[in-house]
Amino acid sequence: MSKYLVIANWKMNPSTKKEASSLAHEIEQRIGGFYNTKIVIVPPFPFFDAVKSSIKKAALGAGNIFWEEKGPYTGEVSPLQIRDMGAEYVILGHSERREHLGETDEVINKKMQASLKAGLSAILCVGEREREGNDIPPIVGDQLAEGLRAVKKQFLKNVIIAYEPVWAISTNKGARPDTPDSAFRANLFIRKIITGLYGRKAANEVRVLYGGSVRRENILSFLTEGNMQGALVGGASLDPREFVEIAAIASRAEKK
Ligand code: PGA
Repeated sequence: MSKYLVIANWKMNPSTKKEASSLAHEIEQRIGGFYNTKIVIVPPFPFFDAVKSSIKKAALGAGNIFWEEKGPYTGEVSPLQIRDMGAEYVILGHSERREHLGETDEVINKKMQASLKAGLSAILCVGEREREGNDIPPIVGDQLAEGLRAVKKQFLKNVIIAYEPVWAISTNKGARPDTPDSAFRANLFIRKIITGLYGRKAANEVRVLYGGSVRRENILSFLTEGNMQGALVGGASLDPREFVEIAAIASRAEKK
C-alpha cells in the first residue's frame, strides 16, 4: 500500500472533454517515480472515458454514486457502472453534496454500503461547518459513526476518511486553511471514534486524508506535523503543475 494518497477532486470542472483530457494527460506525464504516493483523479462522470484513456499510473475515482446497482433511478449512476468504467474510488458525503443536495448521513451510509459491495474504495468526507476553539466538534464523530453504520470490520480496509473542515475549503466564503496542529488533533479524534467502533488495530490502519485549501505551500506540514496519510485536493488540482508538485512533495515526505 502506498504511504500517501493524493486525490484530485475536480468537482464540476472543467467544462469540456478536451480540457479534461489535457488536464489528465498533463498530470499523468509528470507523475513518474512517485513510488510511495498514489494519485487518484476524480473527474465529472461525462469525462470518465477521456480521463481513463489518458492515465495509467494515476487511478480513477468518482465524486458520487447512487446506492442501487441498476434500475428506475433517472439520472443516477451506480457503483457497478463506475467500476465498469474503470473507477476504483468514490468520494462519499462531500460537504458540497451535504449542503446543495441535502445528503444526509443515512443516504451517505447507503452509498457507503453499496460502494464497498461493488469493490470500490470509499472516501468518506467528514468535517464541521464552523469551529469555535480548538476542539473537534462532536458532529465529526456523528458523521463518522453514521457513515460507517453496519459496515463490517473486514471492509474497513477499503474505507478512507477525508477530514475536510468546511470553513477551510477554498471556494467557501472567508475560507482559511486549517493548521497542521488542528489537523493532527482531528486525526487523533477520528482514530478515537474508529477505535470505539472497530478497535485500536483497525483504527491505526485506516487512512485519514486532509482536505481544505491544500496547496504546495502547506501539504508537507499536513502530512508530517498533521500526521495525515494524504490529501483531497480541490482547487489546486485544476492546475496540473501545482497538483503534481503537491504529490511530489508527498512522495518525498518523511514522517517526523
Ligand atoms: P479545496 O477543496 O482544496 O479547493 O479547498 C477541497 C475539497 O472540497 O475537496
